[in-house]
Amino acid sequence: MSFTADRLLLFGATGDLAQRMLLPSLCALHADKLVAEDLRIVGTARQPLDDASFRNFAREALEKFMPADRRGGMATFLNRLSYQPLDANDMAGYEALAQKVGTPGHGLAIFLSTAPSLFEPTIAGLTAGGLAGENVRIGLEKPLGTCLESSREINDAVARAFPEDRTFRIDHYLGKETVQNLLALRFANILFEPLWNAAHIDHVQITVAETVGLEGRVSFYDGAGALRDMVQNHMLQLLALVAMEPPANYDATAIRDEKVKVLRALRLVAPDETVTGQYRAGAIGGQPVPGYDEELGQDSDTETFVAIKAHLDNWRWKGVPFYLRTGKRLPERKTEIVVQFRHVPHSIFAGKGALTVPNRLVIGIQPEENITLSLMAKVPGLDREGIRLREVPLDIAMADAFAGPNKRIAYERLLLDLIEGDQTLFVRRDEVEAQWDWIDAIRASWTSHGVRPKTYTAGSWGPSSAIALTERDGVHWHE
Ligand code: BG6
Repeated sequence: MSFTADRLLLFGATGDLAQRMLLPSLCALHADKLVAEDLRIVGTARQPLDDASFRNFAREALEKFMPADRRGGMATFLNRLSYQPLDANDMAGYEALAQKVGTPGHGLAIFLSTAPSLFEPTIAGLTAGGLAGENVRIGLEKPLGTCLESSREINDAVARAFPEDRTFRIDHYLGKETVQNLLALRFANILFEPLWNAAHIDHVQITVAETVGLEGRVSFYDGAGALRDMVQNHMLQLLALVAMEPPANYDATAIRDEKVKVLRALRLVAPDETVTGQYRAGAIGGQPVPGYDEELGQDSDTETFVAIKAHLDNWRWKGVPFYLRTGKRLPERKTEIVVQFRHVPHSIFAGKGALTVPNRLVIGIQPEENITLSLMAKVPGLDREGIRLREVPLDIAMADAFAGPNKRIAYERLLLDLIEGDQTLFVRRDEVEAQWDWIDAIRASWTSHGVRPKTYTAGSWGPSSAIALTERDGVHWHE
């Protein structure tokens, strides 16, 4: 049902995500007049706050996490906020919550950013409190379970109250501008599509490297690990966008139909096609940092690094490895996709002593947003001793190409789409299930082979076996 919500109900309103991302994003949308005047935002969490103290709480979060030059509309933004304390397990509390939300003029958007264990009682409470009708849609923040089975339980519980077209599963990578730009790059240019297949592409690399460690998320992260925290969602979504067939339209159904086909084509990974690691004390940017076990305060077998050689069993990608790599406490923060093209079929320069290097497309997602295509060019000269060729980059820095527009954080886009009801950048249930299916098989193979993470020094690119994973195919990680 299409409506623009005039009420937004935030569960987990005093949590870390709300402070760092949700409240700043909503404030920015307000300041830029992108949300309607009548949008009211109700926060809820366990803390016993009232409206005034929640507004103070929000003000402090905005001052801490929002750049000063984007806080223009803060005072009027705070007037939109109110608060209702709630123990999500206590069904009696939902009536008061419903009263606080009031009767929306058009509709209500709910954003659940709570522990997954609270999803089921929350959905039951929303239903009992009359907060799950036709003019209500729900946004769900990860983690949505820890395996296919638990994700199905959550999705079933949600589906009892909210049909799929009113369920918005968040993967914040889809809200990132450069991730959406992948679609523009692939489908608004004629150059790449004819070459975008196994005949012309040797392999693809996707790296999501972080310098941060546990960041105090002890209880969550140790139960998840890099595979479930980063690969199951963000990296597989990136892979799907790189590998999918051209959708017929830019709309939620067409795009998600194509992504799910890719996710279902993922081949079961062989035991020697994954590498896991866990960081030990080291240094990042010259600063000493402790090891994972020290941050955690105990020994653990949780992986903070994973590298995978993935394959898609379909016509387009037969025989093209997708090397995925993500980890915490790596030397730099970098998310990028590297598309490595094949050699020219025949080099006319070979007889002249010149080597040709295959073309490479590097799509930088963060921190820098840029697209670099490396091309071969002739080194200027009279060529008396043979022709010399060299790789030269064709470089597009998005910040230079599009100076002016504010750089928006992913949640601005996603919250706006949730309020307005556009599902294109949200993950459909079949996608999530295909993702879990593949991830569960990897975990099962780790268990049956007794795989334990190898150690790596914080500030390095992971265990040496991650390098061997590509080197044995004659491929170097792009660094
Ligand atoms: C989250 C993970 O989904 O993504 C975190 O739970 C990770 O562990 C974060 O740090 C990375 O997001 P970004 O936008 O900083 O790349």
